Amino acid sequence: MASSVLCCLLLFITVWPADGFMEYVLDRCVFSSPELKDIEYIYSMYYDKKEYVRFNSSVGHFVGYTEYGINNAQRWNSGSEVVVRRAQKEICVSHVDAFYPAVLTKS
Ligand SMILES: *[C@@H]1O[C@H](CO)[C@@H](O)[C@H](O)[C@H]1NC(C)=O
Repeated sequence: MASSVLCCLLLFITVWPADGFMEYVLDRCVFSSPELKDIEYIYSMYYDKKEYVRFNSSVGHFVGYTEYGINNAQRWNSGSEVVVRRAQKEICVSHVDAFYPAVLTKS
């Protein structure tokens, strides 16, 4: 089976307008293989179409891409926000197991 079939199965988008610009959050579970351990949870925040901060479960902490994003990343990495995001990967794992059991190798 082509691994691309498994990519990006789950997507949660939250949008809210701020001063005429669109701010949104993208929660993704990214699959690159049929192994549960390879699932990545990605949480990205965008303002005016630019991603300013991202949590990647493989990296394990927030990374900022703008001054605002870097400031938030530092604050969230030293607080409970990073702990909450790390736990989200388990939600990806349980979702894929519930919705797509046939594509996973059982281990
Ligand atoms: C998450 O981080 C890992 C390790 O740096 C990287 O290989 C992977 O491409 C990243 N995933 C996404 C969706 O950016």
